[in-house]
Amino acid sequence: MDQPKRYLITAALPYANGLKHIGHLAGAYLPADIYVRYLRAQKREVAFICGSDEHGTAIPIQAMKEGTTPRAIIDKYHALIKQNFADLGISFDIYHRTSEPIHHETSQEFFTYLNDRGELEVKETEQYYDEEAKTFLADRYIMGTCPVCGYQRAYGDQCENCGTSLSPDQLIHPHSTLSGKPPVKKNTKHWYLPLGKHEPFLREWILQQHKDDWRSTVVGQCKSWIDGGLQSRAVTRDLDWGIKVPLPDAAGKVLYVWFDAPIGYISATRQWGLDTGRDWKPYWYDKDTKLVHFIGKDNIVFHCIIFPIMLQLHGNILPENVPANEFMNLEGEKMSTSRGWKLDMQDYIDDFINKDNGGTQLADSLRYYLTLIAPETKDSEFIWKGFQDANNSELVAKFGNFVNRTFVLMHKLCNGKVPPLHKDRLDATDEEMMTAIGTTKTKVEQLLEGYRFREAQFEVIMLSDLANKYMQKKEPWIVARTLAETPENQQLIDNCLHICLQITANLAILINPFLPFTAKKMLHMMKVVEKMLDWENAGKLNLLSVGYSLRAPELLFRKIEDEEVKAQVDKLLASKAALAAPTTAPDQPVTETPAPGADTAAAKPTIVYDDFARLDLKVGTIVQAEKVAKADKLLKLLVDMGAEQRTIVSGIAQHFNPADIIGRQVVVVANLAPRKMKGIESNGMILMAEDKSGKLHFVSPGETIEAGSGVS
Ligand code: MF3
Ligand code: ZN
Repeated sequence: MDQPKRYLITAALPYANGLKHIGHLAGAYLPADIYVRYLRAQKREVAFICGSDEHGTAIPIQAMKEGTTPRAIIDKYHALIKQNFADLGISFDIYHRTSEPIHHETSQEFFTYLNDRGELEVKETEQYYDEEAKTFLADRYIMGTCPVCGYQRAYGDQCENCGTSLSPDQLIHPHSTLSGKPPVKKNTKHWYLPLGKHEPFLREWILQQHKDDWRSTVVGQCKSWIDGGLQSRAVTRDLDWGIKVPLPDAAGKVLYVWFDAPIGYISATRQWGLDTGRDWKPYWYDKDTKLVHFIGKDNIVFHCIIFPIMLQLHGNILPENVPANEFMNLEGEKMSTSRGWKLDMQDYIDDFINKDNGGTQLADSLRYYLTLIAPETKDSEFIWKGFQDANNSELVAKFGNFVNRTFVLMHKLCNGKVPPLHKDRLDATDEEMMTAIGTTKTKVEQLLEGYRFREAQFEVIMLSDLANKYMQKKEPWIVARTLAETPENQQLIDNCLHICLQITANLAILINPFLPFTAKKMLHMMKVVEKMLDWENAGKLNLLSVGYSLRAPELLFRKIEDEEVKAQVDKLLASKAALAAPTTAPDQPVTETPAPGADTAAAKPTIVYDDFARLDLKVGTIVQAEKVAKADKLLKLLVDMGAEQRTIVSGIAQHFNPADIIGRQVVVVANLAPRKMKGIESNGMILMAEDKSGKLHFVSPGETIEAGSGVS
């Protein structure tokens, strides 16, 4: 496509079910932002669209976890995520929400359009149903044992332990996470998008037309989907959270979240049109619009196969490119919210940007490193030490240092003004340096147009490195110190600093898409208006006029210290450890907590089955018992758990004689984090019943059974 009339740039709508981490940022939002900032600097017409994905089972599940409503969840996370993006300089034209009426309306219209034209199939199938909760169960709501690895808490769509994709039928001992009961199968009717019918279109459009200009990772994934045979996909669900299916015979049914979410790009564009008085229609209907979807690789099938089929049937334009990124790992492991192994945007903002010695320069430091390690062709790795090195040895020592030296010397040797250029005194080194500016501009441009952000940023840093070397070679400070103060010598100084200042202005333009806060600061130092950042100015050598006086330099970047990096790694390890241990650990042995006669049954809030399932309860046999010195309530027990023997310290000394309880069986909370009591490490907790008078009784199987047996 030659230069299109307008650009429509989208970044995957994040689920508003939790904070988003830097892997998300690096995967979609940052590259999209760099591209958009570049296009804006090119004065192209652009709409940069994003917003919260607020439907799907992820939202009610999170609401259950946080003990609140789905509405409260989306309101909370929408606001937080939106602010996080703003703090990191992601410059959406609109950050919309799929819970807005305009989106519901747009999605329903889309569904009706396809359905009225016979593009959807209706099928009756059997789905899992929870008879107690009286609801159909999304795959996520069914849990059981993974047939592959034996993990007992695998979901109906995936085992989070071994990563295998599953269907609920494959689970061993499936049960509903709502009631804990095994689900039953029940008939239900749903609407399907027959993908198979569109295989010829997809083959032609992706595997022919775009086989060379799309990333090979993207084309490869599409090809394997298409070759694997395209099944019809249900576009409706039995759920009470979502967009109602706009048909009379579809009570209790909503549009599948992956049907409505990408339509969110359209409804957000509509809203943006309303907000700004622009006509949104050409953005989705005029062939002269270049649509680009920025996403992570887990979204490829939806953006390259399903949504394009929908768009085509609906008469919309198709994406020109879908530059999906691979994943970013963190310190050697996959990022995961459930395992506490991640760096949320929010954490980075709190720990770096919103600190005393923080500020927006640290937003740019993160942007820089994430682009440096952008997972464009393969998975990459965020390493805290690498972040520190990149910041200190590239931003501080190269880019920042060059700009700072230029300004300091200009103030010292040229009276704080842009010195003139004495053409007849230029030598080959000067000429080479001046040529490099133009060459860099061309390279950066080509790389950005090809979505190669990592290399594009590298070129800009290389220019600053080259400029440092140029200055080092010219040594204007030596010229000033050792040579006579003659007009001839001053001319050499002038030439060097004139060129360095023009490079600085160019660096501001070239770095602007990547590090927008830095570019702004540079504008301030140079006392020039934002217009100077127009891309057409890049490569020019007269951006700062001779005689113009400039401000004192500001520090563009600060060093990241060893302690800061160590603190982050420690924090990561601690958060992982905290999640690995059960959160239910009480501060006191249970047998000491309730006052006699207290109404314990009503004292605790309702939990979901999931909470219960976190407990590992086992039957153990007490094989030794003795009093703990200087503790009149504690007994030290040795409990046979079948495969092992455990030391457990229990607060039952006032109720039982050690000798009397040897051989008794007890129920043990086996996965309780170890805890020290009177210097003895206790590994688990035994359960006891307490009657109204405060007397304790054993909770044990009706007859003696094998030690280590599970309780559930
Ligand atoms: N919410 C999805 C995710 O986080 C992405 C939705 S992208 C859209 O994986 F196109 F559907 F909006
Ligand atoms: Zn598994």
